Amino acid sequence: MISGERLLAGLEGRAREKLPPAVFDYLVLGAGESVSAAEAVEAWTALRFHPHVLRDVTDPDPSVTVLGHRLDVPWGIAPTTLQRAVHPDGELAMARATAAAGSLMVVSSNAGTPFADIGATGVHWWLQAYLPSDRTLAQPMLARAVEAGARAVVLTVDTPVVATRYAAGQSVWDTVDPALVRVNFDPGHDDQPGAEKALDLGPHDIGWLAETTGLPVVVKGVLRPDDARRCVQAGAAAVWVSNHGGRQLDRVVATADALPGVRAAVGEAAQVYVDGGLRDGHDLLAALALGADAVFLGRLPLFALVDGGAGVAAMHAELLLQTREALRLAGCGSASDARGLTRAPGANAL
Ligand SMILES: Cc1cc2nc3c(=O)[nH]c(=O)nc-3n(C[C@H](O)[C@H](O)[C@H](O)COP(=O)(O)O)c2cc1C
Repeated sequence: MISGERLLAGLEGRAREKLPPAVFDYLVLGAGESVSAAEAVEAWTALRFHPHVLRDVTDPDPSVTVLGHRLDVPWGIAPTTLQRAVHPDGELAMARATAAAGSLMVVSSNAGTPFADIGATGVHWWLQAYLPSDRTLAQPMLARAVEAGARAVVLTVDTPVVATRYAAGQSVWDTVDPALVRVNFDPGHDDQPGAEKALDLGPHDIGWLAETTGLPVVVKGVLRPDDARRCVQAGAAAVWVSNHGGRQLDRVVATADALPGVRAAVGEAAQVYVDGGLRDGHDLLAALALGADAVFLGRLPLFALVDGGAGVAAMHAELLLQTREALRLAGCGSASDARGLTRAPGANAL
């Protein structure tokens, strides 16, 4: 295990060393020519801070509140498929370490672990769902999630079809056991007519999901202010600025560039989250500065999961150290104090 300040930067290299090439490629590759996947990290790095001084930073509070629930840290785990191909303990290891960190886990509907087992770890968790053409086919899976204690549903809206990704070698789907995915669907679900991803998603699906599950709905994959407004008008509790880690429409805008417009359009009528290319405490500070209520991490915890629950726990611990240091250096007593740090104050600003 790599330790100390290099830990986060070293995680990808460690995953490359330890994972079969097809699994590693599945984790890192973007869609198309990976233009957006490559730009995601540098879009955060390009931002510049205007830190405060002469403020008490004795004990900066990194906690945030998402949909009424307090998290000890300003990040959650984004939904990712194939966690059990990264480590045999998969979602369970991710869930236990995330619960211990006081964070939140969003569980992919493609998960390879029964929702009930994930819920039994005690982690605070949300379900991520894609909706099929025949919406009623999603109902048993949704009911299982509600039964297992999911506290919200995240509707992913940027995946009408799965974009083409060009792996140099074998496709991961030719190498991994199909039993490692989609265990929360009825057997034979995917072969039924109407089980393919819906091409006709609309704002009404937000209301349908809320009614079907009785849970707040978060819409993931929003990049435009006008779409964000439509989500909120349709009843979304939060919008999640995401380009799916550059895995869907290639050459799509970086989330760091899309976030300010979405925040401005939504105002405080709903929460706004962001993911994509967030790799260290400075990136997190930048996302909070641009108006995110919380951030989500996709690849970073997947890389950490190579070392099972201990790896994920070490990632959470290191990120907390980095976040607290970044808050202190920026003169922020809390995560919410970071809002606006990337804007130059006007001459008359208080
Ligand atoms: C290997 C992998 C699998 C993913 N699977 C899903 C998924 O099942 N559902 C979903 O909504 N997003 C999925 N995503 C997208 C993530 O939720 C998230 O939007 C993205 O990874 C964030 O970017 P980052 O990896 O740079 O942190 C996946 C991403 C990766 C890397």
